Amino acid sequence: MKKIIIALAFLTLPGLTFAAAGGFPLQTAPIDLTNHGSLQNGAKLFVNYCMGCHSLDYQRYNRMARDIGLTDEQVKENLIFTGAKVGDTMKNAMPKADAKQWFGVAPPDLTVIARSRGVDYLYTYLQTFYKDPTRPFGVNNAVFPNAGMPHVLWELQGMQEAVYTTHKDTAGNSVKTLSGFKLTQPGSMSPPEFKEAMGDLTNFLSYVGEPIKLERQRLGLWVLLFLALATVVFYLLKKEYWKDVH
Ligand code: HEC
Repeated sequence: MKKIIIALAFLTLPGLTFAAAGGFPLQTAPIDLTNHGSLQNGAKLFVNYCMGCHSLDYQRYNRMARDIGLTDEQVKENLIFTGAKVGDTMKNAMPKADAKQWFGVAPPDLTVIARSRGVDYLYTYLQTFYKDPTRPFGVNNAVFPNAGMPHVLWELQGMQEAVYTTHKDTAGNSVKTLSGFKLTQPGSMSPPEFKEAMGDLTNFLSYVGEPIKLERQRLGLWVLLFLALATVVFYLLKKEYWKDVH
């Protein structure tokens, strides 16, 4: 029995690591929660290209407005397409059951995706859709092999094809690994522009995952200042109390 369990563990392990990142190296996301321009651009991209399928069930429009430097009016005019009120959460109109039928799997709510998958994963995921005619939507993804999501940003990015390198493994078999991409059909954005846009979108989702983070950092600074001040006061007090003993 023990042997079987060990054998099973070995069988499933390589599969697990593969599923975690698809074996493709992750890029470091340029997160800067103080950059309002970037967060606003990310919000715009999200409501235009993602909210048709994904919701942010735990994020309210007006909270977002305040945090990323917009007025309620600006949000109402530019970022709400669903008829929602500015105090509502960012739900979408797609019924989960239909979505499951259309895509095989319902698009997940993305409120905490940056925290559950990590920002680098997200940033890389958004940039690594590539042409694969064997998949239902004609595309595959480097960090999420066989993802059920279409390449919704292809008009911006264009379409890229996978580039493989072959090498021999320890047993002498040649293995093909995905090593990069070739842009075969340009999009409306240049590659650096698209990369920057995906940085903004990732930045926005990182903010959504932890809206309190900025506040916490500000608070943390005051706490440190308070502790520094307290140290001085306690030191002086200690000197005063021990004056007569020494
Ligand atoms: C046409 C519908 C549709 C649109 C539009 C769409 N997605 Fe998705 N998305 C899906 C589906 C379906 C899945 C589930 C894929 C799966 O689990 O195989 C998914 C999954 C995801 C995941 C989870 C990946 C993972 O590792 O689990 C992320 C992140 C994501 N989408 C981000 C986005 C972002 C960002 C946008 C906007 C640029 C977007 N999606 C637009 C349908 C969509």
